[in-house]
Amino acid sequence: MQFPEKIVSLISDDSYQSDSIGMSDSSVFIFHNKILKVQNCSKESENEYCMMSWLKGKLQIPEVLAYEVQNDKSYLLMSKCEGEMACDKKYMENPRMQVKLLATGIKNLWNIDISQCPSDWSLKNKLAQARYNVENNLVDMDNIEPDTFGKNGFQNPQALLQWLYDNQPEEELVLSHGDYCLPNIFFKDNHITGYIDLGKTGIADKWCDIALCYRSLSHNYCGRYHGKAYSSLDDLLLFKELGIKPNWEKIKYYLLLDELF
Ligand SMILES: Nc1ncnc2c1ncn2[C@@H]1O[C@H](COP(=O)(O)OP(=O)(O)OP(=O)(O)O)[C@@H](O)[C@H]1O
Ligand SMILES: [Mg+2]
Repeated sequence: MQFPEKIVSLISDDSYQSDSIGMSDSSVFIFHNKILKVQNCSKESENEYCMMSWLKGKLQIPEVLAYEVQNDKSYLLMSKCEGEMACDKKYMENPRMQVKLLATGIKNLWNIDISQCPSDWSLKNKLAQARYNVENNLVDMDNIEPDTFGKNGFQNPQALLQWLYDNQPEEELVLSHGDYCLPNIFFKDNHITGYIDLGKTGIADKWCDIALCYRSLSHNYCGRYHGKAYSSLDDLLLFKELGIKPNWEKIKYYLLLDELF
């Protein structure tokens, strides 16, 4: 791959290994202490850079070292987060600590003043994007929960979209990460060291991140990613750590909405 000159000048002293964890159309190149994320230019790639700039000094995010756009691809060179992803074995074997840190990570987001936030992912905009994805066949049907469609679920993405329009919950707006799953949060020595993958970060209902965090924990514990099923997780632990009661209606709603992204 031909990287832009500025990027080359900043990484020339390093060799990389490619990463395969990302599920989107991006490629991530891991250097000694830097990460290069290459994506097709999109609303999300622009949002990621925009939100990283806005969140500098407000949240533990990687430092942006360079951002270049060339031939419709974006190149984001950033510092590497210290520590490990929240789904690392070390944390999977210590669910109390893991869930406590994940809950702290969510609460830190709630503490950020959103009055000047440049990105708005509230339901109106999320549903408009979901509609666009449905109408343009962009829904990733290979990465869907088994019961969303078919016998026990919706007939098709259009029917789900209609249900989402008809059943909109009242929003409690906060700063939302937008993809708050375990591989997108880094911990070290029982501290949060990084929030990454900020393409969908912006103002949204607090239950979006809670829902995705809950689902990500469930998937990791049932062995969906590691091939290894860990001891069962107390379903209510996340809510205990957040200090709120689970709102299963909203969790269900936001998990269904996420199916259209
Ligand atoms: N700044 C960083 N520091 C350390 N690791 C990183 C960093 N950025 C990315 N990674 C690694 O690369 C993986 C993929 O990056 P990222 O989540 O940004 O890409 P993605 O393709 O949008 O992923 P997905 O859509 O699957 O969530 C991360 O889960 C992490 O392992
Ligand atoms: Mg990710």
